[in-house]
Amino acid sequence: MITKRLIILSLLPALLWIGILLYLHQNNKNEVPIQLQKSEQNLEGLVLMDGYCFACHHPGMRGGPAGRTAPPMFRVREHYLREGMAREEFVGPIIAYVQHPSQDKSKMPGAIRNFGLMPPLSVDQKDLTTIVNYMYDHDLASEEWNEEWRQFKKLGNQPL
Ligand code: HEC
Repeated sequence: MITKRLIILSLLPALLWIGILLYLHQNNKNEVPIQLQKSEQNLEGLVLMDGYCFACHHPGMRGGPAGRTAPPMFRVREHYLREGMAREEFVGPIIAYVQHPSQDKSKMPGAIRNFGLMPPLSVDQKDLTTIVNYMYDHDLASEEWNEEWRQFKKLGNQPL
């Protein structure tokens, strides 16, 4: 009886370690660097984009370059999205650009001429991924999206 209990007791630390390792492994798995998910009905992307991008990339359709500091976001989307393009083909290059803007990565050389190179932003990779997935899923030039944007603004733009 005693030996049985001793065996169990001596196994406990090992079990504890296995538990910890499994837990860490699980956690690492959650940190997928570029998570590709459909973000319809997902306001988080809009909240983050409002906070991180719209100060410069105002979503409004009206007005020319005068008074702007960057092209509107729907123009950026237009330049990056091609018919039938897979999500990762769209998401990857935009994330890369935001983290390290450079002339040779640019698909909008005219925008660099008009506004100067975008400054690098320190946006959390997960937040950035959420933003760019949101951009992929939503046609920012559509009347439907603009209505959604107006409603969002009316609600006082409360964080989730
Ligand atoms: C401080 C102002 C500023 C902020 C904030 C900003 N941008 Fe920009 N962005 C610019 C300017 C200026 C340009 C045009 C020049 C250029 O293309 O580098 C630009 C261009 C871009 C381009 C096109 C790059 C190209 O030339 O192909 C992408 C994509 C982009 N921004 C994404 C984002 C995203 C996503 C966010 C929010 C996470 C964001 N930007 C926030 C200023 C900003």
